[in-house]
Amino acid sequence: ALITLILALSLGLTLGQTKIKSTFFSRCEKFKEYDCQKLWDAFQQAYVNKDPCKVPVEAYDPLIAAAPFKHQCNKTMFWSKTKDVVHGLTAKRNDCFVTLEDTLLGSVLDNLTWCGKEGSNDTFTTGCPGWSECVNNPVRSFWNRSSAAFADVACGNVTAMLNGSINTPFNPTSIFASVEVPRFIASRVKNLNVVMVIQKNNISNCTDPSLKNLRQSIDTGITFSCKDVSESRIQECGSKPEIACGACW
Ligand code: APR
Repeated sequence: ALITLILALSLGLTLGQTKIKSTFFSRCEKFKEYDCQKLWDAFQQAYVNKDPCKVPVEAYDPLIAAAPFKHQCNKTMFWSKTKDVVHGLTAKRNDCFVTLEDTLLGSVLDNLTWCGKEGSNDTFTTGCPGWSECVNNPVRSFWNRSSAAFADVACGNVTAMLNGSINTPFNPTSIFASVEVPRFIASRVKNLNVVMVIQKNNISNCTDPSLKNLRQSIDTGITFSCKDVSESRIQECGSKPEIACGACW
């Protein structure tokens, strides 16, 4: 029984590791100009053989350096609590908007969980710390690090989609508020245009007090605007390529 258990556990580990590695490679290979093996090695060194609660954001510096974000002036799209609607749009309109999850690193690691363990060179996909279990976990540190790097290259007209169906669309604890907005500087970012996604039962909109906090926290010199836009209008922009990017809303 013990042998069976050991076999089952090691098989489970091997399968988990094979699966994340194959997902990483198959997603990575869609971006032709990168060496995926080199990126996998840079990715692994961030967390392998480490306590999964002791992976700081800097651990991903070599990975970011190996796949730097390109300037996407006027196309950078940020979001908070609007993941599905925003990616539904960018999947079809990458001529207009690019999110972190449309870039190589963001798309390769989107929706994945991973961690290492002290004394092992393996990648684990189960038994990893949850997002809030400890701050310095491998997944959270990656998203914080990559979000910072993505915000650093934003320029020109920057858009952010916020959710009008929640109480605090601009939440200070979000990655958008705590990591991305503080990195917008007026010499690069000219305008911050918030699109408030309005569904049938919305409870907030551009008049929400949290938006005043956003307006006040951005660098003076960055022009701020906010527009309430129905979810269906955003979907229409996605399904009609003939709509000009500037006319989506
Ligand atoms: N558990 C797991 N993952 C989480 C959690 C959590 N509690 N909170 C955030 N995340 C990760 C997930 O990958 C999720 O899809 O962060 C993503 C965004 O979370 P939101 O709370 O919706 O938004 P926010 O924290 O503002 O982050 C979004 O950061 O990903 C970048 O550039 C992107 O502008 C975007 C912003």
